[in-house]
Amino acid sequence: MSDHSGLHESIFTWITPRLRQLPWRDTRNPWHVFVSEVMLQQTGVNRALPKWTVFINEFPTPFDCSQAPLGDVLKLWQGLGYPRRAKNLQAAAKVVVEQHGGVVPNDLEELLALPGVGPYTARAVLAFAFEEDAAVVDTNIARVLARFHGRTLKAREAQKLADDWVPQGEAWLWNQALMDLGATICRPQPACDECPLLKDCTWHGEGVDPSVGSAGVSVAQAKFAGSDRQARGRLIKQLGECAVPVHAVAEIMDRSALVAMRLVEDLISEGLIIRQNDELMLP
Ligand code: ADE
Repeated sequence: MSDHSGLHESIFTWITPRLRQLPWRDTRNPWHVFVSEVMLQQTGVNRALPKWTVFINEFPTPFDCSQAPLGDVLKLWQGLGYPRRAKNLQAAAKVVVEQHGGVVPNDLEELLALPGVGPYTARAVLAFAFEEDAAVVDTNIARVLARFHGRTLKAREAQKLADDWVPQGEAWLWNQALMDLGATICRPQPACDECPLLKDCTWHGEGVDPSVGSAGVSVAQAKFAGSDRQARGRLIKQLGECAVPVHAVAEIMDRSALVAMRLVEDLISEGLIIRQNDELMLP
């Protein structure tokens, strides 16, 4: 491991007055942190904020979540998108209850074995709930790493470089700071003149952006309007209110009968909705 004390000092000096106040940063409850990280996998901070508070009030423990009908979990997920995450989150809660005594484990392999948990979420729980020396590589940090090192990175390289940077005993603040750097300065359109890493950054905002095409750096999301995601979301939202007769789905989803039925079949096979005779409902 090389000496990164200069880098650490630059980042810590920069973040101290700037750390974004976010409610999941005020807790070390591993379940609450876990819920926030699953929400933040594919949803922006502002949309996740109100949902997180309601979710952890409703399900303060993995046990509470594990006991609820899946439909109740999906209703609380409404508006966050990608509802498979809610199903996986509840499945993870069940594993935590059945195999870990109701306590989210403090172990990389055990976390990775939970449904819906990948390298990012597992390390985020380790760093943000348990303050372990884990390096988190989300889309923002992947962009920072690629630009700083001046080359497109594969996932393994990015993780290794991130691991190498983590200051011992300070992973909580370090990872939060890099996330905030990526979210506020090292954005897709960066503000390099405000960046605390400018003098050491290989890219420094000139020429081809090495983060484009790097592993984990998100490309613009496909348009939501007119998408299958939108149509699926419409149906799930309606099912949160009441059961729906099959003949009504095309109108609710605003799609042709053929497309609507294909999407309904998908939702059924993913376990996100159920069909009883001629009615659809949440599980
Ligand atoms: N995105 C993922 N985790 C986050 C966190 N802890 N704070 C802000 N944004 C995040």
